[in-house]
Amino acid sequence: MPHQRRIERLIAAMTLEEKIGQLGAFADALRPFAFEVNPETFARDAEQVREQIRSGRVGALFNGVGAAEGREAQRIAVEESRLGIPLLLGADVIHGMRTVFPIPLGEAASFEPDLAERTARATAKEATAAGIHWTFAPMVDVARDQRWGRVAETSGEDVYLSCEFAAARVRGFQGGDLTAPDSLLTTPKHFAAYGAISAGLDYNFVDMAPQTLRDVHLPPFKAALDAGALTLMSSFNDINGVPASANRELLTDILRGEWKFEGFVVSDYTSDLELVAHGYAADEADAAQKALSAGLDMSLQSGVYANHVAALVEQGRLSMAEVDEAVRRVLHVKAAAGLFDDPYRCLDAAREADQSHIPAHDALARDCARRSIVLLKNDGDVLPLKKSGQRIALIGPFAQDTAHLGGCWNIFGDASRMVDLETGLRAALDDPSALVVVPGSGIEDAVEGGIEAAVAAARAADVVLLALGEPHDFSGEAQSRTQIVIPAAQQALAEAVAATGTPVVVVLRNGRALALEGAVREAQALLVTWFLGTQTGPAVADVVFGDYNPSARLPVSFPQDAGQQPYFYNHPATGRPNVPGTPRFFQTRWREVPHAALYPFGHGLTYTRFEYGLPQLSATRLGWDDTLTVRTRITNAGARDGEDVVQLYVRDRIASRVRPVRELKRFRKIALAAGQSLDVEFTLTRADLAFHGVDNRLAAEPGLFDLWIAPSATTGEAVQFELLAP
Ligand code: NOJ
Repeated sequence: MPHQRRIERLIAAMTLEEKIGQLGAFADALRPFAFEVNPETFARDAEQVREQIRSGRVGALFNGVGAAEGREAQRIAVEESRLGIPLLLGADVIHGMRTVFPIPLGEAASFEPDLAERTARATAKEATAAGIHWTFAPMVDVARDQRWGRVAETSGEDVYLSCEFAAARVRGFQGGDLTAPDSLLTTPKHFAAYGAISAGLDYNFVDMAPQTLRDVHLPPFKAALDAGALTLMSSFNDINGVPASANRELLTDILRGEWKFEGFVVSDYTSDLELVAHGYAADEADAAQKALSAGLDMSLQSGVYANHVAALVEQGRLSMAEVDEAVRRVLHVKAAAGLFDDPYRCLDAAREADQSHIPAHDALARDCARRSIVLLKNDGDVLPLKKSGQRIALIGPFAQDTAHLGGCWNIFGDASRMVDLETGLRAALDDPSALVVVPGSGIEDAVEGGIEAAVAAARAADVVLLALGEPHDFSGEAQSRTQIVIPAAQQALAEAVAATGTPVVVVLRNGRALALEGAVREAQALLVTWFLGTQTGPAVADVVFGDYNPSARLPVSFPQDAGQQPYFYNHPATGRPNVPGTPRFFQTRWREVPHAALYPFGHGLTYTRFEYGLPQLSATRLGWDDTLTVRTRITNAGARDGEDVVQLYVRDRIASRVRPVRELKRFRKIALAAGQSLDVEFTLTRADLAFHGVDNRLAAEPGLFDLWIAPSATTGEAVQFELLAP
């Protein structure tokens, strides 16, 4: 390990109190921000915090912002504390800083990891200019239950897609050189299986087969670490009865033993203290002992390490070696980030002022936003609309809204730069007066006369854009829903507007897949726009008027009905599959709906039409150590240039454990001019076919596989190949 001598010298010189100081992070009372997520910050006394830094009792601060104040805190740490160990300044910078990019789920819909890398890079530039070294991102949890509010922060329900985005975001935030002025350290979170909490209820228990943990929930963490992440955040949930924040198997055996991780693990906000409420620890001291000895290095906010570790060491319940090891990991990350050599990195007020608004980031935000919009349906080619000669009624509570553009993790975004739908659409029109705007309803409540006004506007228009959906606070932490539907007041508005007979284009705002009902489901066109951030209005206008041909795909399946949750495309095969066209009795289906999505993972339309040739395999038999090459001809058979997301899925036909009905293994977004064809080629090896067997070991099994190259998880024609035994 580089810097090893410096770190060992420091550890040898540190008192136990100073060591414990390095293992604690507290909400930044010197630069308080975002009361909603950090109420404690405001309750702390700033002078007391300065004194704690001076006496070496704080290793990191989080969710503060500002270069000048951060520099002063760092000055105290470096110049006034006994050993001069620099502070690490962290924050939840999730999908943008001053410039807000689409929520991670929306950005994943682009199926363009390199786009996520670029938005993360831009975010890192802005965050590091504002006095932040370390972000609590990316969130890499795989989310298979749309009731969970935190689906919005994920890359959706698929393992492979989540891995690709996890790695891309780590690369983007950190850049190539961790000591560069604009490198932002990452914290893939929440380790682990937080996305599998039972019933989609935040903080709930996780009870799962160890193979599912390894096949589905751990790979994105491994991908993020392989991309260079140096810290991880433990999750709130338990896994098979052992809380993640005191889970030795996860934090030590897998992370350090198998994966050779050298960085540190930080708890989630008080998740170490919560071992007591879990009934896993008797009291705070017991919680500190269990967490630290399991491999949780840094305590976020609870103070249980600060309050109890010294006594635990004195009593022999924790060894000094265990404490030293945690300190070593924290110091290693600080050294790797260049903070010993340049503690004032990221703390330059002139740079902060200069980079408070980087105009190129607006262009990137607009491009990312339009690349995140999914066209679910477009009956009769109602979209794109015309910029002149068409009377458009923009109806709905989100027509003129800027409060709900940023999504659930927008704590540092520049509110003054948010562009709403009306502004974006009007600016794109040749005759701006062709657009009439009527809210029609509140988000959850009807407004007096709203429906009447909306109906009148719809009658007078050639087409309606209906801006409906969820407010930003229906997603995020502790925002689980039982009914993943559009609020009743908005649904009533949609029914009344649809009854006018004017064609309706729904512009859906959402932080999860929703169960669409009635007039919304039956609308002529449906656009999924998530929470798109700063450039929402212009990006939606680009798609609505055809200046951008939509290219995004669903990273989560839209169910037929809310009661199907958890529904995900890559579910294991049952013994009684629901075969279309056969009698429905005694098959895997509900009384009301089939065991299928309304719009599956991977689905999304464009304004052109792509045709797929049958996949051509380099061989129908794949040798154990060989590589299979698959090639398919894709043709843009429509009249417009466009982009397609070509997806490769496989199914292991017979295996020693029941396998998913399909699994995404590769994808590629391609751009084709009207009439153009391209041979798209993918390669696979047996590593792509491996899974954890009954013995929980990773291996591929010889035998027959189906393979699809298709535009979604439920389309395409399968070809077969056989993996030969070694
Ligand atoms: C709790 C959330 O679960 C986590 O994602 C976040 O980083 C921390 N709070 C810190 O704000």
